[in-house]
Amino acid sequence: MAEVLLENVSRVFGGFTAVDGVDLRVAAGEFVTLLGPSGCGKTTTLRMVAGLEEATGGRISIGRRVVSEPDKHIHLAPDRRQLGMVFQSYAIWPHMRVFDNVAYPLQVRRRPAAEIRERVERALRLVEMEHFADRPAPALSGGQQQRVAIARAMVFEPEVLLLDEPLSNLDARLRTQMGDEFRSLQKRLGITTLYVTHDQDEAMALSDRIVVMRGGRMLQAGSPQDIYRRPSSEIVASFFGAPNLLDATVTTVEQAPSNLSRLAVRGADWQGVAYGNHMFTPGSRVRVLVRPEDFRMGTGNDESDATWRGEVVASVFRGARRSLRLRTAAGELNVEVPALTQPAMGEAVEVGAARSALWAFANT
Ligand SMILES: Nc1ncnc2c1ncn2[C@@H]1O[C@H](COP(=O)(O)OP(=O)(O)OP(=O)(O)O)[C@@H](O)[C@H]1O
Ligand SMILES: [Mg+2]
Repeated sequence: MAEVLLENVSRVFGGFTAVDGVDLRVAAGEFVTLLGPSGCGKTTTLRMVAGLEEATGGRISIGRRVVSEPDKHIHLAPDRRQLGMVFQSYAIWPHMRVFDNVAYPLQVRRRPAAEIRERVERALRLVEMEHFADRPAPALSGGQQQRVAIARAMVFEPEVLLLDEPLSNLDARLRTQMGDEFRSLQKRLGITTLYVTHDQDEAMALSDRIVVMRGGRMLQAGSPQDIYRRPSSEIVASFFGAPNLLDATVTTVEQAPSNLSRLAVRGADWQGVAYGNHMFTPGSRVRVLVRPEDFRMGTGNDESDATWRGEVVASVFRGARRSLRLRTAAGELNVEVPALTQPAMGEAVEVGAARSALWAFANT
């Protein structure tokens, strides 16, 4: 399996920079997801790797081969890059049977008929669609069509798979199911995968690493866990859910393992212990991230837990959980609690959060 390497890759349209100096190495067999708001340059980046879009700067390599380097006038055509692609807009062809849809990339490559039959059967087995080979494509559900598209992308055993929002046409249940299936297939086959989505949950569930993009640039790359728990900026933090970002002042600083600082912080009518990346000093003003699901009702169990007192001003039942808004001296807090917890509107409550849940940013 091949690695994919992007070095300082850019794409300028007229005077507009859609992708701005992206550096990214997708290791062989790794699953990397580009995540970011609409227009941030995800599709353009993927299309440059595919060869469907010409880069205007930098270098792209697949395996040992440089496939794009505008300064040296290198631009390999898509069919010479040995990639499988599944794009949202690349629906399967409605006038063909499932078999012919999957066979198409091999027919274009003029493979012998016996080899085509064998490979198509194998690809359909991978996505558990072998019993549908003779179905006309329109007689399939959305999820089945998507599986056929994946089989078609994999039929010539590409070293690298590129997927652009491949699940976005599906309903929520199928999206989760197909995502999980695809992830286990990708792991089993060890295919290097570059995936694009603007769905945070999907990105977290599927990826080895997530690259958060905005305005054509990479903001942060890391494991889902790192990106979620230790975002490098408030922008990245705010990209996932409805986090609380509270103003506070550092009172004491200690070194903590893995290059972190452990900070005692004091905010408006609350205090606690937070972790942070930077070298803070006593007196530093910080913003403290607390995810809504990290609160517990009642005062903390541990002495170092932070506690906030507030009044319930909104309560939304969401089935598995309930979203509360609390008005506190530190501002309004988004708090997620088990759905059966039912504080009355206006009720005075206390919520606590463990220090491992508090993450500090420099407030500049
Ligand atoms: N051919 C083009 N000419 C001019 N501008 C373009 C062209 N293609 C893309 N852009 C611009 O480049 C920016 C990035 O587009 P891109 O399609 O990569 O975004 P995206 O992150 O995939 O967004 P979405 O989530 O909406 O699919 C956008 O502002 C878009 O308008
Ligand atoms: Mg896009």
